[in-house]
Amino acid sequence: LKLMCQYSATLAYSCKQSPVPCQKPLPVTKKLLTHCQLADGHKSPYNCPPIGLRCVALPYWHPLFYKQPETFMKRITTRQELADCVTQWHKEGHTIGLVPTMGALHTGHLTLLKALEGKATRRIVSVFVNPIQFNNPDDFRLYPRGLDADAALLEQTGGADILYAPDVSQMYPDGFATRILVSGLDTMLCGADRPGHFDGVATIVTKLFMQTQADIAAFGEKDFQQLCIIRRMVQDLNLPVSILPVPTVREADDLALSSRNKRLSPERSEER
Ligand code: PAF
Repeated sequence: LKLMCQYSATLAYSCKQSPVPCQKPLPVTKKLLTHCQLADGHKSPYNCPPIGLRCVALPYWHPLFYKQPETFMKRITTRQELADCVTQWHKEGHTIGLVPTMGALHTGHLTLLKALEGKATRRIVSVFVNPIQFNNPDDFRLYPRGLDADAALLEQTGGADILYAPDVSQMYPDGFATRILVSGLDTMLCGADRPGHFDGVATIVTKLFMQTQADIAAFGEKDFQQLCIIRRMVQDLNLPVSILPVPTVREADDLALSSRNKRLSPERSEER
């Protein structure tokens, strides 16, 4: 019988760096002794030894034998909660990676998240359908949404530490009046038919950079004009974030993956 010794933090968690009680014990291997879900929802920091460890011998057929403790993801909806978390991460020396999205997540988004592996020790996926980048109200209304499905996908695939999904009032308080204007680059290509779109993108992306305190952010080459504008903006405004471009992911018939593909009619899908 093959056995493996694993540990569960069964008692309250207390130490200087992390005075938050352990709410839910997570299975941890000998190597990662300190994994534990803290009361505020975060995983415990590695350098903080839990007290009250109990050694449990697990047979190879037990699901916990294979469970990875890293898959826990926290859902955050307020700026304050996010600020507390990212400030703590930076104090602990983590590098924060961001994947900004408007949700309806697909493999393209997961590829952006994967691209941050090894470049960021903590990864955030933001989901926010940004009203000010839509110049057509129907496009905004019909944009595919499904936060629970997005959360389930991220939990299943792992890699995200936080799903940040603020509502409009968190992003645009009453009387909101300030925008980032991108001149020149937004009047050609797709921007020519979408006046104001890239100003809306630049504004929300800047807000997301500031709120998440991201050190690095991944953007798909699929939206190439967007990528160029964001790089320009980061340079012009000296924003302390690196931009990681990620190659486009395509379906077998070469169509680029996009959340909007869900809105293709069956005939259009066939035509493509
Ligand atoms: O590419 C997108 O999904 C959006 O334009 C972004 C960057 C998340 C800003 O809303």
